[in-house]
Amino acid sequence: MRTGMKSPLAVVVLAAGAGTRMKSAVPKVLHPVAGKPMLAHVLASVARLKPAKVVGVIAPGAETVAKAFAPHPTAVQKKALGTGDAVKAALAALRGHSGPVLVVYGDSPLITTASLQRLLESCRKTGASVGVLGFIARDPSPYGRLIVKDGALEKIVESKDANPEEKAIDFVNSGVMCLDGARIGELLGAIGDDNVKSEFYLTDAVGIARARGLHVIAVEGREAEFQGVNSRAELAAAERALQQRLRSAAMAAGVTMVDPDTVWLSADTRFGNDVTIEPNVRFGPGVTVASDVHIKAFCDIEGARIGKGAIIGPFARLRPGSEIADDVHIGNFVELKATTIRRGAKANHFAYLGDSEIGAASNIGAGTIFVNYDGYGKHRTLVGDDVFIGSNSSLVAPVRVGKGANVTAGSVITQDVPAGALAFGRARQETKKGRAGPLRAKLQARAAAAKRQKGKK
Ligand code: UD1
Ligand code: CA
Repeated sequence: MRTGMKSPLAVVVLAAGAGTRMKSAVPKVLHPVAGKPMLAHVLASVARLKPAKVVGVIAPGAETVAKAFAPHPTAVQKKALGTGDAVKAALAALRGHSGPVLVVYGDSPLITTASLQRLLESCRKTGASVGVLGFIARDPSPYGRLIVKDGALEKIVESKDANPEEKAIDFVNSGVMCLDGARIGELLGAIGDDNVKSEFYLTDAVGIARARGLHVIAVEGREAEFQGVNSRAELAAAERALQQRLRSAAMAAGVTMVDPDTVWLSADTRFGNDVTIEPNVRFGPGVTVASDVHIKAFCDIEGARIGKGAIIGPFARLRPGSEIADDVHIGNFVELKATTIRRGAKANHFAYLGDSEIGAASNIGAGTIFVNYDGYGKHRTLVGDDVFIGSNSSLVAPVRVGKGANVTAGSVITQDVPAGALAFGRARQETKKGRAGPLRAKLQARAAAAKRQKGKK
């Protein structure tokens, strides 16, 4: 590209394809992998190139997709007449742009910024008007073949249009293409639809540029980055690949995973170092884990911040809004939601702690329930520092328990407990000396009588 490195970059993201094979009411690019829509992955990789402009190409009526592109503008492709036609739909939004135009697909979530950068750099260095990212495919059959002669890319032949000799080529088009913004209108204008699919192929821009004596290049990338998603099975394959990448990155950054294949991450999961994760843990979106945290087996964590040195699980569920301070212990079958739990507090067994604050060093006994919902609205439970909540207590919100208070086991607490108070919210126990024997004799006689009665019938 002659336009120089300083010239601004524009990126066109294609997302107007029908996506029929997904068999879904949800537009294909909005299906999530690693906790966020495919399109968001592509936009994140693109954003790191710091483009001056990003334009999305969408199908008519695809408002949810337009929203996912925001704040970037979108252009509507009226009919899905092919990739060439799709890029053409974006031209109006690119008016006045003369730098390179990068074309990527919204349904290829594995693409990395580094590969896009490499293509752009190569185009810039060689002065190419068109550049294509290609790869060697294990199975080239679904892809356009790159026809290279004497080291130069001559043309791209789509699979359905390829002759047997071309079909044997395994160097294929990833779909990522860079075009000189000063020439893009002219090149796209020359694309026809005289082919097996009667579509306007963007890939024809290669042959057209060559025929005009322009320089065209192919840059080789790795197949793993260009897996597109057309079906649910391919969605699962993309998820697997992305998980593999995220796990490797986490381990490289100092996280121990006992069985990495069973740890499921989101693209935005953040770890400090010396975090240990036992098998079968899922991280939904929005989780930050500080250093020295130990997450035991079978936890489900989403929208949570976990402080240094905390111990979580096994079998803990941290729902969105869980703010867990340093050195907190959350044990088995404990569920947190919209709850802040301060330094060194413990909830080690069977509890639901929702819409609440729990003070430092407090102990929440086994079986504690914060009764946050009355059937209509949610209410808050505020527990101060150094509080002891006895096992099997219900705190009926809204309610406060002050600093240093004790709630006795089995209490139903409906009124605020002031600091330092001891609260009983249960019936007083009555103990009757020597009365167990007579009661047993009576019950035994009753049971024997019933049995005799049955035998007579
Ligand atoms: C395309 C390439 C092929 C390449 C392959 C890589 C062309 C003609 N072919 O083929 O060389 O090997 O990708 O996966 O470019 N789209 C639109 N509007 C349309 C048609 C497509 O927005 O009218 C979008 C789709 O949403 C998708 C992308 O463009 O994101 C690719 O379209 P698709 O139909 O999957 O192209 P392929 O036939 O796979
Ligand atoms: Ca495709």
